[in-house]
Amino acid sequence: MNNLTFRLLEVFQEVVDGGSVTAASNSLALSQPTVSLQLKKLSQIVGLPLLEQFNGKVHMTEAGEAVYLCAQEVLSSQAKLTTQVQALQGMETGALKLAAVTTAKYIAPPMLSAFCKAHPNIDVHFTVGNREQIAGRFKQNRDDVYIFSQPPEDVNIEATAFMDNKLVVIAPGDYNGPDYCTLHDLAGEKFLLRENGSGTRKAVDEYCTRQGFSFRDPMIIESNEAIRLSVASGLGLAILSEHTLAQSATDNIRVLNVQDFPICNSWYVVTRKNRPLSLTALAFKQSLLERIQ
Ligand code: PGA
Repeated sequence: MNNLTFRLLEVFQEVVDGGSVTAASNSLALSQPTVSLQLKKLSQIVGLPLLEQFNGKVHMTEAGEAVYLCAQEVLSSQAKLTTQVQALQGMETGALKLAAVTTAKYIAPPMLSAFCKAHPNIDVHFTVGNREQIAGRFKQNRDDVYIFSQPPEDVNIEATAFMDNKLVVIAPGDYNGPDYCTLHDLAGEKFLLRENGSGTRKAVDEYCTRQGFSFRDPMIIESNEAIRLSVASGLGLAILSEHTLAQSATDNIRVLNVQDFPICNSWYVVTRKNRPLSLTALAFKQSLLERIQ
C-alpha cells in the first residue's frame, strides 16, 4: 500500500458519504472523471473492488468498509495534527471547516466575510446542507464549527445559542383567506413544506404534533428559495424562517398573523467536546458568540 495517499482516502470517503461520484466531485471541486480515476487507483492499490452497484445504488464491499474505516481514522488524525501545528504557528495561517444548515446560509456569509477580512490568510471550507446532512457530518467529526437551529442530540456536543431564528407563516401578496387566526383556521389552504430531514420541517412538525394539526395534501419543496418564490407566485402558504424573507424586498409575499407564530427558535454555534479546536476555529466561534445580545 505504498502509494496510498490522504487524498485517495478523502475522495473515497466523500464518494461514500455523498452516495455518488457526482456528489463527491461537487464537494471536492474535482471533475467527475478525476474522482472516478482516483477511485480506480485506490481499488488497484488495495487489490480488491471497494464499491458495487446494487439496485441502482452504490454500496461498499467488505474491503470498501475496511478502507472507509481507515479513511475516517487517518483523516481525523490528520485534522488533529493540523490543529496542533496551527496552534504552534498561531492563527493567521490556519484553516476553518464550517458546516451550516441551509437556512443558516442567510446569516453565515456576512459573519464569515467579516472574519475572513480580519484574517485574510485563513483557508475556509464552508459546507451547506439540510439538518440531517449536517448532523451526519457532525456525527462523523468532519468539521470544526457547525451552525444549527436544532442541534443534534449527542453527549459530545457543545451548543450555544447566539441569534434568534423566527419561523413565520407566509402567503402570496394577494391572499384573501383567513388572517389573525390559528393554524387550524388555515387547514383548507395548500401548504408548501420543506423536506423530511430539514430542521425547519422538524420545528413545524413538532408544533403541529403539539397542536394536533395536519396539513392537507402539502407540496414538498427542498429549497427555501423555491418555496419563497412559489408562495410569491401564488402556489400556496408556507412556514419559513424570517431570514429567508429578507433576501428579496420585491417578493410579493406577506406574513400572516397566526396564533403562536412566530415560532421562536435560536441559532446555535456547535462544536464537539472531543475535537480539539484550532485557534482559528476558536476565534471564529468566538466571533459568533460576540453577537449574543
Ligand atoms: P434546514 O435547517 O435548512 O435544514 O431547514 C434549519 C434549522 O435547522 O432550523
